[in-house]
Amino acid sequence: MTTNFSLAGRKALVTGAARGIGAGIAKALADAGAAVMIGDVLAELSRDTAQTLSAGGATVRFTPLDVTSDDSWSAAVAATVSEFGGFDILVNNAGIEISALVTEVKADDLRRMFDVNVVGTLLGMKHALREMRPGGSAGKGGSVLNISSVAATIAFPAISGYSASKSAVDRATRIAAVESGKLGYGVRVNCLYPGLVPTDMGMKLAADIVACGLAATIEEAVGDVIGQTPLGRLGEVTDMADAAVFMCSDAARFITGIGLPVDGGMGT
Ligand code: NAI
Repeated sequence: MTTNFSLAGRKALVTGAARGIGAGIAKALADAGAAVMIGDVLAELSRDTAQTLSAGGATVRFTPLDVTSDDSWSAAVAATVSEFGGFDILVNNAGIEISALVTEVKADDLRRMFDVNVVGTLLGMKHALREMRPGGSAGKGGSVLNISSVAATIAFPAISGYSASKSAVDRATRIAAVESGKLGYGVRVNCLYPGLVPTDMGMKLAADIVACGLAATIEEAVGDVIGQTPLGRLGEVTDMADAAVFMCSDAARFITGIGLPVDGGMGT
């Protein structure tokens, strides 16, 4: 048995982990043995989440982070290194989604989505790779996992701007993986493509589908997604979290530059 999913001794920063998929990933990394820093703009909720996840003895802390700000990233990475004594795993999970038909998109909404989803992810990779490459604080080679979306792989109506931003995350992931490999950083860089998960964001999307006139009810909108999913259900936070543990662990040691669908086959 050579497979090793343990993250014992690893130090991780998970963005957007106050709630939803990020909180689930933070829990799963901590359950696998990592010390986890939650980086989010929602301070109060993040503190509650960190406290809840620490209750069983895990090490989960919070540092304020606005992923759109270079200075905020510098401070969050410094806080992670100072608190845990290193930094080996970054999960770039923070994201926002603002739905609109192409005929209705608003420039400010598009800019905001690209700022959080694309600029935020790229700044995260910048700061993580600087810290994790030789001379930085990573112990045995780091891992960066970006949360893209099945929306980067299929044409789902009402989310053109969001899909474009998640496609950009996918491309940037692959380029960072190639640079990291060729320049000997020792850091693997990958992304996940989650399918629809009924978090705050997921349920808002279902409501937006109705508001855009693409379904009569939220139940119909969700039913349409399930109908397009070979495994016949929505995703769960734990589906994403388990995949994240695998991708960040040594079990994935020869995997870099990929997007892993975790979508029940929706993007197939
Ligand atoms: P959510 O809306 O429940 O949580 C997003 C988190 O990101 C929140 O804690 C929020 O405070 C944080 N955040 C937003 N802007 C931020 C910023 N500027 N700096 C730091 N943190 C910020 O969303 P959910 O569903 O948990 O999504 C997590 C990730 O998964 C996102 O990147 C999303 O695009 C992606 N995703 C979600 C899917 C779904 O169906 N829920 C499907 C595919 C991808």
